[in-house]
Amino acid sequence: MTETAPQKRLYIKTYGCQMNVYDSERMADVLRPLGYGVTDQPEGADLVVLNTCHIREKATEKVYSELGRIKRMKARKAEDGGEMVIAVAGCVAQAEGAEIMARQPAVDLVVGPQAYHQLPELIARAHRKSGERLAADFAADEKFDALPMERATNGYTAFLTVQEGCDKFCTFCVVPYTRGAEYSRPVEAIEAEARRLADHGVREVTLLGQNVNAFAGEGGLAGLVRRLARIPGLDRIRYTTSHPADMDEALIAAHGEVEQLMPYLHLPVQAGSDKVLKAMNRAHTADSYLRLVERIRAARPDIAMSGDFIVGFPGERDADFEATLALVREVAYASAFSFKYSRRPGTPAAAMTGQVAEEVKEERLARLQALLNDQQMAFNAAQAGRVLPVLFERDGRREGQVVGRSPYLQPVHMAGPASLKGQIVPVRIVAANRGSLSAEALTERMAEVV
Ligand code: 5AD
Ligand code: SF4
Repeated sequence: MTETAPQKRLYIKTYGCQMNVYDSERMADVLRPLGYGVTDQPEGADLVVLNTCHIREKATEKVYSELGRIKRMKARKAEDGGEMVIAVAGCVAQAEGAEIMARQPAVDLVVGPQAYHQLPELIARAHRKSGERLAADFAADEKFDALPMERATNGYTAFLTVQEGCDKFCTFCVVPYTRGAEYSRPVEAIEAEARRLADHGVREVTLLGQNVNAFAGEGGLAGLVRRLARIPGLDRIRYTTSHPADMDEALIAAHGEVEQLMPYLHLPVQAGSDKVLKAMNRAHTADSYLRLVERIRAARPDIAMSGDFIVGFPGERDADFEATLALVREVAYASAFSFKYSRRPGTPAAAMTGQVAEEVKEERLARLQALLNDQQMAFNAAQAGRVLPVLFERDGRREGQVVGRSPYLQPVHMAGPASLKGQIVPVRIVAANRGSLSAEALTERMAEVV
């Protein structure tokens, strides 16, 4: 009879951006050899990791309230004679490490985004209740070298970090302080990771970076995309997030030439007023952004544009906000994220005069979102009747339904067998909502047997 060691239960809660999703997966990879298996329930877990986001005040507050909840679970486990280790990871850990430990003594360790390969050591120290329990180094290269080669994948799509950090210093943003300076992983390491993903059945990778199109490896991001496009089985490539200033001709050309590169681009502009853009230190104007979008559309006319917007940046007047609406009308976005400006301590904008009243921000955000929602609906409605290739990824909420993504990143629902999962299949779009599309199989036979 063979006995397997009892698994320790690891619960990871992820906040914020896609890079945190990637980092959480990699934390699980680091901890697996130590006997930790991922659970979706924090109650009773041996290790709870909150992988946090610091980008806006609201995101940070959520972490502290969640810590209150987890602390009670830790106390319940202790009553039963058990032990729960609580770790705070991610950008709040980086920015407020010592403060977290002081404010919430139930936290056992704090680990920044470039130091989570040290988790095994930190956990051991936490158990011994001695030694340093705060790791917030900035050496991204050390982390990647120390991470295990193998990644657990449980699907047909995966994130792959290729670049981290930011040197842009937009005046509202904490990222250059929490994620550190721009760092690009070596092309060979990225390619090796992509090949292993493809070997495990992954058909679509999304290349991640805070400034992914600033990727500084040989050939830039365009070179990397072309290289990954040669990997058998890897049929779809996406990347996010990009800065307009780093959108070079080679990358634009790749959009017109590389079949695997999906026609969707997240290219934040943040605002439409040159005065505000300058105060944001964005290094582009509304006009230079619009001309850039024109060039991208000349290379790939059907590209779905996506963006980020901030309303109520210090000094934003009504006319500035109207300029944002005008830019949005001109671009016609397929999807977008929009936020009220959130004052982040330590960033230059936090100290600027002309902070905008909360009610004004609310009102502007509502107007902007109404416009963006209309545009999203229009973009989706325009797909009705078309045949689109969909990569089916998972079961739908309803019995006998599968869900995947169109090339434009829209979720697509269809009645069909589970065997469609992992396949890229042309289907007919029959209906559109703001958030998703519905499709029909092209032939009865396909719906039955593919
Ligand atoms: N306030 C509001 N939104 C912000 N973002 C970044 N910093 C702030 C802030 N201080 C938004 C930007 C960015 C996205 C990830 O979050 O739009 O592109
Ligand atoms: Fe933040 Fe600007 Fe860097 Fe984006 S480019 S991460 S908004 S500083």
